[in-house]
Amino acid sequence: ADPVRYEAESATVSQGLAESNHAGHSGTGFVNYTNVAGGYVEFTVNAPAAGNATLALGFANGTTGNRPLDVSVNGAAPTGLAFQPTGAWTTWSAVTTTVTLKAGVNTLRATATAPEGGPNLDYIDVTPADGPAGTDY
Ligand code: GCU
Repeated sequence: ADPVRYEAESATVSQGLAESNHAGHSGTGFVNYTNVAGGYVEFTVNAPAAGNATLALGFANGTTGNRPLDVSVNGAAPTGLAFQPTGAWTTWSAVTTTVTLKAGVNTLRATATAPEGGPNLDYIDVTPADGPAGTDY
């Protein structure tokens, strides 16, 4: 299946701000997490069918330390992911993981777990696993 991109600046944000002052981002900006634990960006993700999907999170981290996020789908137990330094706030990278989606509307929340807050989050790309032969999700 083809990836579907969801821009962070269009998502629901708690303890963060949509900004655009660091070049190279996708869309019209990114989310700057407030420098506290607990801020989140929440995306509404549509899946064509239940199953696994590849999740790529586009980000920048211009500091010298990890900016970890917990990723939770539909309120389930989160997966902790590291977002290591990218060298500059204008240098963007992506972290990839696998999530399990249900058919239809899913809520995907990326929550900062360190007191420094999260990285600057640009987007998520969701790529559902291929369906049975003959289908194209
Ligand atoms: C800088 C940078 C922000 C970033 C922040 C941080 O202020 O300009 O884009 O979010 O550092 O440390 O989180």
